[in-house]
Amino acid sequence: MKLSDRASSIAESPTLAVSAKAAQMRADGIDVIGFGAGEPDFPTPPHIIAAAKKALDDGQTYYPKPASGIPILKDAIRGKLSRENGLTYKANEVVVTVGGKMACNLVFQALLNPGDEVIIPVPYWVSYPEMVKLAGGTPVFVAGEEANGFRVTPDQIRGAMTDRTRVLLLNYPSNPAGHMYSPDEVRAIAAQMAGTDVVVISDEIYDRLVLDGSEFLSFAAVSDDAFQRTLTLNSASKTYSMTGWRLGFVAGDSALVKAVAKLQSQGTSGAATFAQVAYAAALDGDQGCVTTMRDAFVERCSFMVDALGAMDGVQCYRPNGAFYVFPNVSGTYARLGVSSSAEFAERLLEEARVAVVPGSAFGMDSNVRLSFATSMKAIQEGLRRIATFVAGV
Ligand SMILES: Cc1ncc(COP(=O)(O)O)c(C=O)c1O
Repeated sequence: MKLSDRASSIAESPTLAVSAKAAQMRADGIDVIGFGAGEPDFPTPPHIIAAAKKALDDGQTYYPKPASGIPILKDAIRGKLSRENGLTYKANEVVVTVGGKMACNLVFQALLNPGDEVIIPVPYWVSYPEMVKLAGGTPVFVAGEEANGFRVTPDQIRGAMTDRTRVLLLNYPSNPAGHMYSPDEVRAIAAQMAGTDVVVISDEIYDRLVLDGSEFLSFAAVSDDAFQRTLTLNSASKTYSMTGWRLGFVAGDSALVKAVAKLQSQGTSGAATFAQVAYAAALDGDQGCVTTMRDAFVERCSFMVDALGAMDGVQCYRPNGAFYVFPNVSGTYARLGVSSSAEFAERLLEEARVAVVPGSAFGMDSNVRLSFATSMKAIQEGLRRIATFVAGV
């Protein structure tokens, strides 16, 4: 069947593709260690599951009303944003979406006209450029230097701005490198935006997974000016290990939120009602489950960074947050006879049975991404295999 230009122009998500390939190899009886997953390996906490079960028993099985999100969840989201992020949003400034991915997608659909430019710092989450293109926009990449902890500077952002710039996209702690901006750096970027009409999309999906005690400052919390221009995105997926529940949200300007809700009402009719009840329970309930998961990530992260850093030709930046490491492996390419991160990842999977995501998927071909959302046992064995592989023996 002949496909539309739109469908043909979009690449498949490489992270999901790696996970699928590793799963297939495992199904074929091959012992693969998977570092591809972008999801916590913890079960959804029992009190959240209990809330969903109760919602089902209570008959919360109809379309969500309104499609923009049920009132108890909007209230819980506003409570979270106020408590944890110092942000005060009204009910008409919040829309619940089918995962953070859809939040991002719908925001681009609501904001962009053909030719509008979106500044995307590199390395970036794989889906951003494709979503921008789907919405008719043009991604403009700004490289975060590895020597600067992958962070882009206000000057770099300014240098990338043109009269077509519509959006600056920020994501910290970041996927894939786990880097963050300090409060002063966030303020400096916000100051650079002042006097422009650029919208900032702040993807704060890993805000609760700061691993090294760094202070997290929401972009919208910097000033009134920042608050007005920022759309704050978040989701249930990473914080509460709820990736399969598909729940996210956008908070910001009421006209934009209304437009997202309108698009959603014609697209999906909103996120599943009983799942929304459970997300409210997650946000309003005991946050000990988040701390437990984060503590495990801290331990795994430290082990991985040290083990990777000890390998000849590998340099590993110590992430501030999220659950990924993004080592530079280009120092092994000549020894291994590979010329790209894709080739490195392919050979690693075939020869050492370890799945990682090539850095090219995130805009950096010298690196690969390893998720540490997997057991310590798997991490130890996987790193042992990687060490043997990169030694080239
Ligand atoms: C930076 C970032 N934003 C958004 C998402 C979307 O997550 P979800 O759609 O599961 O809420 C992800 C998932 O990997 C991510 O890493």
